[in-house]
Amino acid sequence: MSTDFVHSREDRFSFGIWTVGWQGVDVFGSAVRPPMPAERAVYKLAELGAYGINFHDNDVFAFDATAAERDERIGALRKALEETQMVVTTATTNLFGHPMFKDGAFTANEREIRRFALAKVMRNLDLAAELGAKTYVFWGGREGAESGGAKDIRAALDRYAEGLNLLCAYVREQGYDIRFAIEPKPNEPRGDILLPTVGHALAFINGLADPDMVGVNPEIGHEEMAGLNYAHGIAQALWHGKLFHIDLNGQHGPRFDQDLRFGAGNVRGAFWVVDTVESGGYYGPLHFDYKPPRTEDDEGVWVTAAACMRNYLILREKVKAFRADPEVIEALRASGVAELRTPTLADGETWRDVRDASADIDTLAKRGLAYEHLDQLALEHLYGVRR
Ligand code: GCO
Ligand code: MN
Ligand code: MN
Repeated sequence: MSTDFVHSREDRFSFGIWTVGWQGVDVFGSAVRPPMPAERAVYKLAELGAYGINFHDNDVFAFDATAAERDERIGALRKALEETQMVVTTATTNLFGHPMFKDGAFTANEREIRRFALAKVMRNLDLAAELGAKTYVFWGGREGAESGGAKDIRAALDRYAEGLNLLCAYVREQGYDIRFAIEPKPNEPRGDILLPTVGHALAFINGLADPDMVGVNPEIGHEEMAGLNYAHGIAQALWHGKLFHIDLNGQHGPRFDQDLRFGAGNVRGAFWVVDTVESGGYYGPLHFDYKPPRTEDDEGVWVTAAACMRNYLILREKVKAFRADPEVIEALRASGVAELRTPTLADGETWRDVRDASADIDTLAKRGLAYEHLDQLALEHLYGVRR
């Protein structure tokens, strides 16, 4: 078993520019680190061996940048990307930072804000396409409410769908090779956010004009804030063919969005997340969306970024060892895990064939399933006493 866990660009690790660039401004305190220009994040992440980046428009240039300032900032980013061969896998729009978005963007009551928000997205879609991004994320952090009467939720969902339909049409008509990914979150910064979980987002996508163009970008912390099982969430997204992107990070249960580095927080959950991702079907980047805690200086920021990648590799090795362990294979067999893959009806059977199905009720009721033995083996791999 290796201890160096060396990653390469083939691992397709990517980071949001805003992650390592986070200055640590929170509800109770001001910035603890200086601003980080986007190009610095690119050079440093490349040095650490990452493959790609994801950016919001305003991670690169300020909301109120002049055309010349915008060009200068984009030029610096482009130069860094060329020099490092870092890939822009994904892009997104900041529709939450400016005070004008305090009541949302696509679902703001004020129509003028909604129209401006759509323009802001289209503008950044042009840049995303130019830089080669294949996925465009929608995290609707401000699309929500604190009180019951302030937002007509059904009208808000109409406007949300209207906005996404328009943006799908824009991407199609411009001929961009881009798909959209909705990122659910239950709350924070709004008291309640629309499309709060993977399930809500998947159902909403079915109501869109072009559902094939839209998938999900589930984040570990966001599902766990709602007490949900992230591995199950991404497995269901895969089942629907909708796992377009993932935001990997760490969270300690239902509380504020901690955005810890990947592998910190719910470690046991992270093991099953990696197991699920490694089982196949996900083709996007292994993307980290975390925030280096306010306690860290610049050096600490890069420690956390390297740790995200390292923790993924450590867990990947553990998952592989678990799956290859003969005792695990035997335990899986004893627990009948693979039997679930056998359809309940045989070929050609209908409900008529099971209408009067019998079962050995007493034996089945008494039978233990030995899942605890199986789970203990997983824990022992995780704890490092089996390898
Ligand atoms: C959060 C969100 C954001 C989004 C990002 C993409 O911190 O709650 O996860 O990090 O992922 O803004 O739009
Ligand atoms: Mn988050
Ligand atoms: Mn995220």
